[in-house]
Amino acid sequence: MPPGPRLPRIVQTAGFMFGSSPWFIDACRRRFGDVVTFRTLFDSQFVMVFDPALVKELFQGPGEQLRAGEANAMLGPVVGERSVLLLDGSEHLRHRRLLLPPFHGRRMQAFAEAMRRSADLEIDSWPVGEPFALLPSMQSLTLRVIMQAVFGYEPGPAEEDLRRRVRAMVEPLARPRSLALLAALPMLVGREARLNDSFAAARRAVDEVLFAEIARRRALGDEALTDKDDVFSALLLAEDEEGRRLSDREVRDELVTLLLAGHETTATGLAWCFDLVLHAPAVHTRALRREEAYLDAVVKESLRIRPVIPGVGRIVRERPFRLGEYVIPPGIEINPSIRVIHRREDIYPDARAFRPERFLGDDPPDTYSWIPFGGGTRRCLGASFALMEMRIVLARVLERAALRAASPELAKVQFRAITLAPRDGVQVVQDRPPGHAEPDTQPHAG
Ligand code: HEM
Repeated sequence: MPPGPRLPRIVQTAGFMFGSSPWFIDACRRRFGDVVTFRTLFDSQFVMVFDPALVKELFQGPGEQLRAGEANAMLGPVVGERSVLLLDGSEHLRHRRLLLPPFHGRRMQAFAEAMRRSADLEIDSWPVGEPFALLPSMQSLTLRVIMQAVFGYEPGPAEEDLRRRVRAMVEPLARPRSLALLAALPMLVGREARLNDSFAAARRAVDEVLFAEIARRRALGDEALTDKDDVFSALLLAEDEEGRRLSDREVRDELVTLLLAGHETTATGLAWCFDLVLHAPAVHTRALRREEAYLDAVVKESLRIRPVIPGVGRIVRERPFRLGEYVIPPGIEINPSIRVIHRREDIYPDARAFRPERFLGDDPPDTYSWIPFGGGTRRCLGASFALMEMRIVLARVLERAALRAASPELAKVQFRAITLAPRDGVQVVQDRPPGHAEPDTQPHAG
């Protein structure tokens, strides 16, 4: 096993939980090297990886031996046991193959429209001349996008109703200190009949609508579904190599997965992106020209310096896994630290500086050094969707709204169970009413 601190588990747990920077992990990396064994109250032994070469070994390793689904088990009570996030091995690949196609091709164009429209609705709701928090606005924006792109709902009462139910289920999980709640969920849900706890009720409220909608759409027949642009309809029609389709339960689980994985993350990424841009005058000025390549670099650099998910996990099973010079036994979880790798000075000189130019040259960071979306056969299914959404929203806001940061300081990083979020939600001010929403809003190519 790799070396690691001998501190009591409770002290190591505190090192992970407190402070807005990964100082404890950084200190251990300096002391023990690029692979470190930690012990916390949540996990009696796990290994963190800080070296892209080892991340590559891990991401390219076999899915049956390195189980991401098992590492994500905590999400089970929310997303369901048949979610792509929780499956491993051949079942995982089957679901992934069925889920990927709707995120490509003609649908992406329809999604771009939904993203712009949703941005306009938010911009038009912002106050003028007084500070407000961007994060809640971005949450509502990205949820509306998922409702349209994934579920195929147009804004209206049915969409409003489902949005409310989804927020009621997700909100308690996205609060600070909700890690304990997430850890306790399997227990609570296991006893749901007796406890009738509020989470189980919120989940039932979402399921009721989803199962009714699945039944309604199945009754429409294949032909009617083929004409639709949304992911929901595509999932009902998707068939694996043996011609098998997803069951109602599987469709429900994947829909909730896309909702959960797709909206809080992208909203947080967007809030950080604005925080960084509004505190970097040179970047802001250049971004106002809205060249697509530059905005793309701004988004990527923002996900580097403020990754939304701090790390990903793979649990070793079946046989020991060789990681560099170490042999990791079955049962141990291996975690590439996205947060620490993104701050390596040897890969990102002056790593604390926000410099989109890093992603513009001939030699941008490779797929094992820039890993906000994880990697290998588990790489985020919505990565292109999220990058496109962030670029489109950034362009639209820069085009229409004159925002400035409400404070000279960048927001503090706060750990919220799954995401690293801005503590104050990113406070901004709009000094004058936004410009009109013109239909032609494509960022300029070039
Ligand atoms: C900025 C926004 C986002 C970030 C930072 C993000 C990050 C991640 C990360 C780190 C993983 C785990 C990868 C691994 O274990 O190697 C993941 C998985 C996943 N994400 Fe995202 N994500 C984002 C947006 C989205 C969106 C918009 C969707 C869908 C609409 C989505 C759907 C998924 C799914 C389905 C998985 C599971 C993939 C699998 O297990 O095979 N994500 N994401």
